[in-house]
Amino acid sequence: MFQDLIFSVVIVLTREMVRKYYNEQAQFEWRRLVQDAYHKLEFETTLRFLKKYLPSDGLILDAGGGPGRYTIELAKQGYEVILFDFSPASLKKAGRQIRRAKVQDQVKQITEGSITDMGIFKDGSFDAVLCLGGTLGHILDKIHRDQAIDELIRVTKARAPLFVSVIGRLALFKAALESFPEELRHKELYLKILETGNYEGGHGFTATHFFLSEELEAIFQKKSVTILEMVGLEGLASTHRKKLNQLARKYPKIWKNWQEYHYKTCTHPHVVGTSEHFMIICQKS
Ligand SMILES: C[S@@+](CC[C@H](N)C(=O)[O-])C[C@H]1O[C@@H](n2cnc3c(N)ncnc32)[C@H](O)[C@@H]1O
Repeated sequence: MFQDLIFSVVIVLTREMVRKYYNEQAQFEWRRLVQDAYHKLEFETTLRFLKKYLPSDGLILDAGGGPGRYTIELAKQGYEVILFDFSPASLKKAGRQIRRAKVQDQVKQITEGSITDMGIFKDGSFDAVLCLGGTLGHILDKIHRDQAIDELIRVTKARAPLFVSVIGRLALFKAALESFPEELRHKELYLKILETGNYEGGHGFTATHFFLSEELEAIFQKKSVTILEMVGLEGLASTHRKKLNQLARKYPKIWKNWQEYHYKTCTHPHVVGTSEHFMIICQKS
């Protein structure tokens, strides 16, 4: 009983910590996917695979869509979109950007709420559902994370696609080595992340569950969906941000070649598993 209470308090505190983080990061999040060639690779690879599996029209849910990069892009392509997120500041930012992009007629709702409970939407409401950029991983406890996955599947129409991208656990170690090696001195913390995937926040990023690709795949294998594909979004370039940006800036021809190598390798299981972000694409049964 007492343990249940502690558990509930920890869940609420974690959720509020994540919400506060994204309320403060709305501007950064708006820029995140377009700030440089490295981040654009995540954005453009995601868009490429959305294009491959999305129906030609329909209503799309952008769950955990933050300030709305994907919402706006899909609205521009003619889709109707509902943007759903639990950070009011991100949604406010999204509202402004949606008007600026003049796609407000395509964006049917901007709604605040948690992906663990999307009761405001009926079963099978959407022709496609997105939960991108690591949103799912911000639910640290397994039971609620699984509840969120069930919700994402529930609101998806039968035979419609569902796209979920998360942050990779293995790439975190490569990123640390490359960009913040001094952090690796926290051996207990890093061993815990390696073993459980869970990071409670406090070292520069908010609470996150870092996924293994086989873990994400196994979760969806147990659901009533067919897994269509898994994709490493930064792929072989993962964590090599500086080098990739240099390549894109100084050597446009080689950069083009790199993109070709990237798209030829990004679905290789080893590339998926070591990518900074990876996406699972499913079709609801
Ligand atoms: C890294 S951002 C990703 C935004 C966008 N999907 C993208 O790919 O750029 C993560 C987003 O998830 C939202 N989020 C985290 N936990 C959530 C939850 N339980 N329910 C709804 N949104 C959540 C945050 O507010 C934030 O906007």
